[in-house]
Amino acid sequence: MSSASWLPALLRLLERRTGLVLRERNATLLEGAFVRLAAERGQGFGEVLDNAARLGENGTYRASPPIGPVRLLEFLRTHPQDKKWAALLEAAVVPGAHFYRVLPQMLALQANILPELLSRTAGPPRLWSAGCSSGEEVYTLAFLLEECAVQLGLMTGVQNSSVLGTDLSPHALALARVGRYGTWSFRGTPLAWQSRYFRALEGNPITGPQWEVLGQVRNQVKFELYNLVEPPSGALLEQKGQYDLILCRNVTIYFRPEVAQAVYRHLASRLSPGGYLMLGPSDPPPIALEGLEQKSAPGALYWQKPLKPLKLEPLKKVKPPLPLTPKVVSPIPFRPSLPQPERTSPPSSKDVTSPLERGLERLERGDASGALEPLRQAAYLDSQDAFVHFTLGRVWLALGRVAQARAALLYAQSLLAVFPPETPLNSAPELTALDLRHALERLLLKV
Ligand SMILES: C[S@@+](CC[C@H](N)C(=O)[O-])C[C@H]1O[C@@H](n2cnc3c(N)ncnc32)[C@H](O)[C@@H]1O
Repeated sequence: MSSASWLPALLRLLERRTGLVLRERNATLLEGAFVRLAAERGQGFGEVLDNAARLGENGTYRASPPIGPVRLLEFLRTHPQDKKWAALLEAAVVPGAHFYRVLPQMLALQANILPELLSRTAGPPRLWSAGCSSGEEVYTLAFLLEECAVQLGLMTGVQNSSVLGTDLSPHALALARVGRYGTWSFRGTPLAWQSRYFRALEGNPITGPQWEVLGQVRNQVKFELYNLVEPPSGALLEQKGQYDLILCRNVTIYFRPEVAQAVYRHLASRLSPGGYLMLGPSDPPPIALEGLEQKSAPGALYWQKPLKPLKLEPLKKVKPPLPLTPKVVSPIPFRPSLPQPERTSPPSSKDVTSPLERGLERLERGDASGALEPLRQAAYLDSQDAFVHFTLGRVWLALGRVAQARAALLYAQSLLAVFPPETPLNSAPELTALDLRHALERLLLKV
């Protein structure tokens, strides 16, 4: 039987189970693996010949004949969990990963997403690399998270954090768990990482030089088998909960567009409110994915799930001007060095409904818990607004959440760093960058 007759059926089976549409090289690898398997004897596939069938002409017993392509295909169809199917899968998957892959995305994680998550989420952020291959992406997330936490002085915020890596390939997951990598995995990686997070191993002529991820980092990551096209259902799925950041890079590029979109819908359902999804630059983008908003950083796109559906509150007729001296985190003045601004007319209805205004109003009334949700919304709406994160820091502080307060304040400080001192703040134009810097410095002494 020529491969022309069984190969399309094999490729269809593979696509149905994994989403993978194979291109030439991998189709050839799969074909080779299938031919080798088809040459194995039927006993290996559970075939039991009766004695009459095994009895050769000269009275000796013979081994069962090769299974052949037709029966092999049937066997694979009816035994989806068999290790022979798993072996074929390894020939089909496209491996390949390295640390710190795609610089603009790494910078967006470092500068925007991770500091914002550390500042906004109540516990350590939950991160998931879906389609993690041999684990480089997972360890990259663990390193980045640790570095952001150190920069923000927030190590307690990442203790007990864990990064999940999942893949379809048991072989890739086994490599990921071992955590040993050669020079090729380090291309484009910050130089300091190798000495900070790895120990050098004695190389051998086959592998070349190798480095092993330090045990303490390996303890912070978990790897699990997970098929994005046939995700586990029911209780198992529920148990896994929701994630603040999902990376699914260079996976859906091998899928048909409609399968890629179905995977995105599934991933979006696993995002926590305010959580982020990052795809590879060449992956098909999500189309009309309800509830996900596109965000960008220089050279990088990503998507965010709203914190909560933004509902406009009914307009109030008159809103009292906001007192600028905080009642909650006193004695630290909200605006320490400037005279109180004058409001000559009631604020517009737009002011009344902005999450920042609502948060401020509640904070000034002493209702810090009531202020938290609108301020987290405000931080979601503008993750680059220093004043918003400053105010969020005040709320966390008022709630006694010192680590979160510190993260939010330090993040606000890092956002402010690029502004000349006299720049008026976007969301509080009566304040300058310098005013806020001073207020931040004072507040930071408290945390
Ligand atoms: C090219 S690697 C990408 C690795 C990593 N995300 C990166 O960008 O460096 C693609 C990985 O996706 C995995 N994959 C393909 N189809 C999958 C599926 N249906 N479910 C889970 N993983 C899948 C493959 O096993 C492979 O390890």
